[in-house]
Amino acid sequence: MSDSIQLIEESFAKVKPRAPEFAASFYQNLFKAYPEVAPLFAETDMKAQQEKLMNMLMLVVFNLHYPQNLIDTLQQLGSRHVQYGALREHYPLVGDALFTTFEQYLGEEWTREVKQAWVGAYTDITAMMLAGAEYDGEIVKLEAPGEKRSTSQVSPTQDHKAEPAKDNINGPILGGIFGVAGLIIILLLLL
Ligand code: HEM
Repeated sequence: MSDSIQLIEESFAKVKPRAPEFAASFYQNLFKAYPEVAPLFAETDMKAQQEKLMNMLMLVVFNLHYPQNLIDTLQQLGSRHVQYGALREHYPLVGDALFTTFEQYLGEEWTREVKQAWVGAYTDITAMMLAGAEYDGEIVKLEAPGEKRSTSQVSPTQDHKAEPAKDNINGPILGGIFGVAGLIIILLLLL
């Protein structure tokens, strides 16, 4: 078993018993750090949304060994997100809020290795979602803007960014299939 997959499975198993709180904290963190995305959820039933997000994360974690099972699902999810008003540049913000939430819930168990594993997985998930999304315009910026982070009081030790993690993108999670293929598909779509 790949180390990264194991780290993701183990860390997710620790937050799963507190899934509803975790999801609520995630949206709190997201809206606090990045209030500009809140209007997208103006009409959303947030309780239902929290459950949907956790179910999707569970599905992804459950299928880490079988990434080919996720391709259609994530591409369709990405396509629906265009209708929701989600922009490419929102993805790093969502990733950032997700990592902040993991840090809050895992404390010292949110180690550098665990974080790297999640950054790699999130990068691959984003690539698959964007491969299914039709956007005009520039390539997604996978770095959360650092200056916006200062508005967040969530964690005093936030130093993480949803970086593409060069050694993760081809690597351990959804692997060569998602990392490279996802980027190639995006580049082809942009041509
Ligand atoms: C890894 C990234 C993401 C995952 C796994 C994810 C997951 C989901 C899921 C499962 C839903 C439920 C509806 C559906 O299945 O179509 C949803 C809805 C939604 N997501 Fe995401 N999402 C992600 C990124 C984003 C981003 C970057 C934004 C932009 C801020 C965003 C904004 C929304 C909105 C506005 C809705 C619709 C809520 C409604 O139905 O009113 N999501 N997301």
